[in-house]
Amino acid sequence: MLEKLLLTGAAGAVGQALRPLLPQIARSVVLSDVVAIDEVKPHETFRPCDLGDRPAVDALFDGVDGVIHLGGISVEKPFDLILNGNIVGIYNMFETARHHGKPRIIFASSNHVIGFYRRDQRLDSSVLPKPDTLYGLSKAFGENLASLYFDKFGQECLSVRIGSCFPKPRDRRMLATWLAVEDLFDLCARAFDAPRLGHTIVYGASANEETWWDNVNAAFLGWQPKHSSAKWRAEVYATAPAQKPDEPAVVFQGGGFTALGHPDDEG
Ligand SMILES: NC(=O)c1ccc[n+]([C@@H]2O[C@H](COP(=O)([O-])OP(=O)(O)OC[C@H]3O[C@@H](n4cnc5c(N)ncnc54)[C@H](O)[C@@H]3O)[C@@H](O)[C@H]2O)c1
Repeated sequence: MLEKLLLTGAAGAVGQALRPLLPQIARSVVLSDVVAIDEVKPHETFRPCDLGDRPAVDALFDGVDGVIHLGGISVEKPFDLILNGNIVGIYNMFETARHHGKPRIIFASSNHVIGFYRRDQRLDSSVLPKPDTLYGLSKAFGENLASLYFDKFGQECLSVRIGSCFPKPRDRRMLATWLAVEDLFDLCARAFDAPRLGHTIVYGASANEETWWDNVNAAFLGWQPKHSSAKWRAEVYATAPAQKPDEPAVVFQGGGFTALGHPDDEG
């Protein structure tokens, strides 16, 4: 059981979904985000923080013995926003952790680190990154930072290449990439419990029928996702339009992100 878990990005979609599960692994939880959270439970405290502000990040870590780092830009955006939230932000998180007893960090990476691999390629965590966006590139930076901080300083981290963590799959691609929040929670719990974590990369998808990813390199965690997108297959096929087989969004694992232009060119 953790004494004090820090959850960044706590106001976001995944953060809000994880919150009710966290008392199973932590006696108290520090919620942090740039966006205010008004309703806080007795075991929770809220601390506003911009991840790009190092002293503000430092103020989050007092007594923290585990971190789930969800905060940052979660889609393609202009580079300045990504630089602050995801590059300076993750550096601030790891550098602060290093000075505060090196609590284990679960880092919300993304499938968009490898988005330009085709869907007929099966990937384990040893493949080279092929980011599909500036956003995916920033997550690759985060994974490399985690690797450096483990090899050089012993800071342990689980980088989770989250597929699609939503209440249910929204389109046909998500039948392969969907991640139930309960499975994500179980993965976090196992990473905090493991005798040794090192820096491990895991693909965050539930036990879906379609899969492009192989978690053999994280098998030591014993994570066996229990949920599957299969129960929504008929609904998704009835409601989400079919796409042409040669569209980039269908060819590549990153889906529609692979077809996005440069964010500065849009609008
Ligand atoms: N939801 C998914 O399917 C999915 C897939 C792949 C990766 N991820 C990653 O998981 C994490 C959570 O995803 P989500 O869907 O909840 O995203 P989200 O956008 O709903 O939440 C992200 C949160 O981070 C906060 N944030 C943004 N910039 C910040 C900054 N500079 N300082 C502090 N906080 C900041 C936002 O206010 C927001 O509440 C993100 O890091 C995202 O990249 C999510």
